[in-house]
Amino acid sequence: MEIVILPSAAEVGRVAASVVAEVVVRKPEAVLGLATGSSPLAIYEELARRADAGELDFSRVRGFALDEYVGLDYGHPESYHAVIDRTVTRPLGLAPALVAVPDGFAADLAAACAAYEAAIDAAGGIDVQILGIGGNGHIGFNEPTSSLASRTRIKTLTPKTREDNARFFDSPEAVPTHCVTQGLGTILRARRLVLVAQGENKAEAIAAAVEGPLSASCPASVLQLHEHATVIIDEAAASRL
Ligand code: GLP
Repeated sequence: MEIVILPSAAEVGRVAASVVAEVVVRKPEAVLGLATGSSPLAIYEELARRADAGELDFSRVRGFALDEYVGLDYGHPESYHAVIDRTVTRPLGLAPALVAVPDGFAADLAAACAAYEAAIDAAGGIDVQILGIGGNGHIGFNEPTSSLASRTRIKTLTPKTREDNARFFDSPEAVPTHCVTQGLGTILRARRLVLVAQGENKAEAIAAAVEGPLSASCPASVLQLHEHATVIIDEAAASRL
């Protein structure tokens, strides 16, 4: 695993964006794995700036989001369908038909999860997966105790994650209780992983992921199993290393 420690959160976004940009320049029809949350926003902003400047063309790029809440209306600004559209698809200029987000409303959620895995495979697999990390070490919505080999499936959100994400909703009770997420095994199949984290509140999770044992109690520790994983963090997030 490659660890890159940078002086500021802005630098984290810039350096991580250049990793993604290299992939897209080399392969204009690249398949990107897209994370939500605040951590990757600076990556998307930098990529959008470079697309606006004519340096990058995302029109043939495909995207697969990591996760979605179950039963949260896609019109809700915090549904990941809405977040991906607002922060990635539109600003970077991806074709909406080429961007997929897990289905949080399917009558048969298990079948929809299997179809999502099949769609990733049919696209040729993910070239570069962008990741944030939760305060408890989750990636996507793979909460502690997630199977290291898991695939896209329904999960119950932990109280800690619901509390962390309550700031995006009108009340803590309004945070959905379930989600659909790519599994740790799905994430490990991406050809390249880029995890970003900024701030002291991520320092413990980063230390567990990078220096701790490989363990389902810190789902991000699966990055230790990947042959091409890069962790790009600021000094505050690196403060427990
Ligand atoms: C959410 C997302 C994750 C994200 C994490 C951290 O729960 N499902 O993909 O990495 O939270 O979010 P943030 O980057 O806002 O700290």
